[in-house]
Amino acid sequence: MIQELEKLLDEARAEIGKVVVAAEAEGLRVKYLGKKGAVSALLAKLRDVPTAERPAFGARANQVKTEIEGQLASLTTQLERAALDQELRRERYDVTLPGRRPEPLGHVHPVAQTGRDLLEIFARLGFSSVETPEVELDYYNFEALNQPADHPARDMQDTFYVDSAALGERAPKSPVLLRSHTSSAQIREMLKRQPPVRIVSPGRVYRRDDDPTHAPMFHQIEVLYVDRDVSLGDLKWTLDQIAKGLFGPDIGTRLRASFFPFVQPGAEVDITCTVCRGAGCRVCKGTGFIEVLGAGMVHPQVLRNVGYDPETVSGFAFGLGVDRFAMLRYGLTDLRLFFENDLRFLEAF
Ligand code: FA5
Repeated sequence: MIQELEKLLDEARAEIGKVVVAAEAEGLRVKYLGKKGAVSALLAKLRDVPTAERPAFGARANQVKTEIEGQLASLTTQLERAALDQELRRERYDVTLPGRRPEPLGHVHPVAQTGRDLLEIFARLGFSSVETPEVELDYYNFEALNQPADHPARDMQDTFYVDSAALGERAPKSPVLLRSHTSSAQIREMLKRQPPVRIVSPGRVYRRDDDPTHAPMFHQIEVLYVDRDVSLGDLKWTLDQIAKGLFGPDIGTRLRASFFPFVQPGAEVDITCTVCRGAGCRVCKGTGFIEVLGAGMVHPQVLRNVGYDPETVSGFAFGLGVDRFAMLRYGLTDLRLFFENDLRFLEAF
C-alpha cells in the first residue's frame, strides 16, 4: 500500500511539472485532493492495511497530501503572477501622448436661451407662466378672439389645419389647427380664472411662412394683464422693461397704431435698433427702430366672450416673437439658421 502512495506522489509531481496555465493546476487539485480524488480513494483502503502498518501509512498519506497541496498552491501563485506580468506588459502607457479632450458639453439653444431670459424678466415683473395646447381649436385661436369664420383678418395668417374628420363622431365641433399665435392662451386662461390675470404663455406657433425673417415654426410669448384700471401707460412701461432688460438701458420702445381684431387700440411695437442703437443703419433701414411684436388693449368684446365686464376691468396684451428677439440679440440676418441644426452654427453661441 505504501508503494501505491509513493507511485501516486510520483505521478502527481510529474503532472504538476507539465502544467502551464492556472486552470490546469485547479484540475489537478480536484483529481488528487478532491473529495473523490486519488488521495481520498487510497485513504479509503486504510482498513485493508494490516493494523501494525496503519500509523505509518496514515502518516505518509498525510505527507503526500501536504506535498501535493503545497506544490499546487505555489504553482498557482506563480502562474497567476506570470499572467499579470504579461497583461501589464501588453498595456503600455505612453505618458508623452497628449491627453484626451473631455467630450464637449452641449449648451442651451440660443432661441431657448432668449426665451428663458425673457421669462425671467416677466417673472420679476410678477407674471406667472402657463402653457396651452399647440394643436388648438379654431374657437380659441380665432373665434373667441373676435375673428369669426368670415372675418377678413383670418387671411392674414395662413394657417395649418388638422384633418379632424378622421376622428368621426369624436371630432370636435370647432375646426382643429396648429395654433397660428399664442393669443389662444388669453382665452383659455381668462375662462379659467377671474381678474386680476397676469400671465405669460410661451410656446411654438405655426404659419405658412418661409423667408429670412419668417419661419414656418417659430416661438411666441403671449403676455396678458387684466385688472381694474390697466392702461396703455402700463403696457408701454412693461414693454420698456423688456427691451431694457434684454438689450440694455439705452434701448426703448415705440408704439405705432395697427390693427388686430382682439385689441382696441392695437399697435405694432418697435424697439430701438440694437445694431446702431438708434442712429440708423442698414438693418433698421435707416429708421433707428425694428419691429418686434404686436400689442394692444384687450378688446371689450373679448372680455365679454370670457364673461368679464369691460366696464369694470381692462387689460393689455402683446405677443412677441422670441426668434426675432434672438436674431437681434445675436446679430443674425436669417432666422431660419436657428432651425437647421447645423452644429457649426450652434456651437458659435
Ligand atoms: C400676432 O401673432 C398677435 N397674436 C400678437 C398680439 C398679441 C397682438 C396680443 C395684440 C395683442 P404678429 O402676427 O404680428 O401678431 O406676430 C407677432 C410677432 O411674431 C411678430 O412681431 C414677429 O416678431 C413674430 N413673427 C411673426 N411671424 C413670424 C414668423 N413666420 N417667423 C418668426 N417670427 C414671426
